Amino acid sequence: MVKKNACVFISGRGSNLNNLIKKSRDYNFPIKIKLVICNNDKAPGIIYAKKNTIPFIIIDTKARYFEYRIINALKEKRIDLILLAGYMKIISKKFLENFKKVIINIHPSLLPKYKGLNTYTKVIKNKEKRTGCSVHYVNEKLDSGRIIIQKSFYVSKSDDEISLKNKTQKMEYLAFPEAIYKIYKFI
Ligand code: GRF
Repeated sequence: MVKKNACVFISGRGSNLNNLIKKSRDYNFPIKIKLVICNNDKAPGIIYAKKNTIPFIIIDTKARYFEYRIINALKEKRIDLILLAGYMKIISKKFLENFKKVIINIHPSLLPKYKGLNTYTKVIKNKEKRTGCSVHYVNEKLDSGRIIIQKSFYVSKSDDEISLKNKTQKMEYLAFPEAIYKIYKFI
C-alpha cells in the first residue's frame, strides 16, 4: 500500500500526535507522518516529533506571511493530508484556498454542540447526559465542516472537567485513526 503523506499541526501536549505516530507504524495504516507543525515553541508535544525523528517546524503566527511558510513546507514534503490535533489557531480562508487537499480536525465535543473552547465546562454546566469527540473536515467556519466520525459516552454525576477530559481523550485516540481509515477507504 502506498501511504499518504500527513502533516500534524499541534499547539500543546501532543498526546493525539503521539497516538497517531504509533498507529502510523502499522503496515496497514493509510498514512505516514512526514512533518509536524507547531505554533508554540513551549509545546510539550514537540518531544514526540524529536523522539521519532519526524521533521518539525515551529511557526511564529505573529510573523507576516507565516501561512506561506507552512504552505511551502507542505509542498516540499508532498503532504496529502493535514491533521489538526490540538492546533489552537484558526485556519484562514487563504490557507484553505492554497491547500486543496484533505484537512481534518479533532474536537472534544459532539459537534455541532460546543464549538470553540471550554467544551468540558459547557458540558457540565448544561448537565449534558452524553458527550464525546468529533473528527470533521475543516472549512472556513470554526468546527463546522462535515463530520467524519463521532464517539460518545455517558456523563456520570461524579464527572468534572478533568475526568471528562480523560474520558474524551481516550475516545479521541480511537476516533482519529478510525476517521483516517474511513477517509481512505472511501476516496
Ligand atoms: C484534544 O482534546 C483535541 O480534541 C483538542 O485539543 C486537544 C489536544 O490534546 N482539539 P493533545 O495535545 O493531543 O493532548
